[in-house]
Amino acid sequence: MKVRAIVLAAGKGTRMKSSTPKVLHELCGRPMLWYTLAALREAGIADIVVVANAELAPHVDAFGVPTVLQREQLGTGHAVRVALEGIAPVAGGRIVIAYADMPLVPHDVYHGLLAALGEERDTAMALVTAAMPLPSNFGRVVREGAHVRRIVEARDAGAAELAISEMNAGIYAFDEDAVREAVGALRNENAQGEYYLTDVVEHFVKGGRPVRSMQAPDHEQVLGVNDRVELAQARRAMNERLCERHMREGVTIVDPQTTYLEPELAIGRDTIIYPNTSIGRLSEVGEGCVVGPNARLSNVRLGRGVTVRESVLVDSGVGDGSTVGPFAHVRGGAELGAGVRIGNFVEVKKSSLADGAKASHLSYLGDAIVGEGSNIGAGTITCNYDGKNKHATVIGKGVSVGSNTSIVAPRTIGDGAMTGAGSVVTKDVAPGERVAGNPARPLPKR
Ligand code: UD1
Ligand code: CA
Repeated sequence: MKVRAIVLAAGKGTRMKSSTPKVLHELCGRPMLWYTLAALREAGIADIVVVANAELAPHVDAFGVPTVLQREQLGTGHAVRVALEGIAPVAGGRIVIAYADMPLVPHDVYHGLLAALGEERDTAMALVTAAMPLPSNFGRVVREGAHVRRIVEARDAGAAELAISEMNAGIYAFDEDAVREAVGALRNENAQGEYYLTDVVEHFVKGGRPVRSMQAPDHEQVLGVNDRVELAQARRAMNERLCERHMREGVTIVDPQTTYLEPELAIGRDTIIYPNTSIGRLSEVGEGCVVGPNARLSNVRLGRGVTVRESVLVDSGVGDGSTVGPFAHVRGGAELGAGVRIGNFVEVKKSSLADGAKASHLSYLGDAIVGEGSNIGAGTITCNYDGKNKHATVIGKGVSVGSNTSIVAPRTIGDGAMTGAGSVVTKDVAPGERVAGNPARPLPKR
């Protein structure tokens, strides 16, 4: 049985009051739409189309799914009609419909929904419902005895219906022939003058086709994001879920409420994350690391036993047993080897430091290569920019760069060389050579 999914994302999203399409607003580092697609794929549904408006459509390609354009936003039922016109019919197929503004729906809800729909072609649809605290803007599920009778939108509901606390989550599975027929018959006589997808329920019931339902175990899973208050609520819930996942895998998170994670992170066992720390953009943290407090890691690889305190690391890698911070900035493709020490007020940009190298205080290392075991003294600056171009600095192994040395790049300092405090290095320094002064000159051999 072929299962396809239609994701509705064309709504105007007026309640966001934003020039960015609603489903591109991010929570935990991913756009809302990303979560819906990820959950559907995790449920084994690979064949997905997104219904988009003209503003959103150009952005959908990046998600690796085809788009159907809904030019005018005439309601969820109209959106589904447009989508079905855009995809070839499959006899006996199954269509799952999800709204892209519900990022917290886990993949097992889709499994449960398809199980509720069952194999019987006679069943027209299954929908997910949720018990929710009142008041609520969700559509109400009106039952007759045990059977779902219809869904009434909050704006069209009378007082008795508004008192119902079983809500329409907005996730459905259909027999394909049934949904094609039903959306063709929709009318827009309601408070919003829209074609409501939810009206197909009553249509099926009146036609004698069974409609099944399953209740979501937790109403938070089906929280819809319509404004920025709900976006913040969804972010908090998603972050809690991400933190829980890592804690259950052996990561200590001292304060999940102030630890900001994203999906698709790898964090090793026995790593401890202290408060006010964010880790994102596909970062990988090894085992037994200490990260935070007040750290930001974005697209970073940490080896084992790395310590990062009060520092910002972006697009960089740090080897086993190294320490960074407090108050360091490592960025732009920096690569630190094992046992490296980057101390306070040190910026490392697009530079590599080999094993055991140290820059402990107040330095800028840009476009530099630092050899094994070299010590970069306090206040050392690689003067990499001549106002037009960036130039490289190469520092060999076991070099001792004195405090407050300025290295005017491009420059090479050979293995075992030494610079005196306050040196301004304007010429290459040979291996084993000792230089000092401004401009730095060789000192007599010891
Ligand atoms: C909808 C349901 C409601 C349910 C709630 C759950 C309808 C009529 N109502 O209400 O019963 O409780 O979701 O969150 O379906 N969209 C389009 N094209 C359109 C209109 C909407 O693609 O013309 C998309 C939106 O981008 C959004 C989704 O459909 O992703 C739902 O639309 P929205 O306006 O948010 O519906 P709700 O009022 O939340
Ligand atoms: Ca909504």
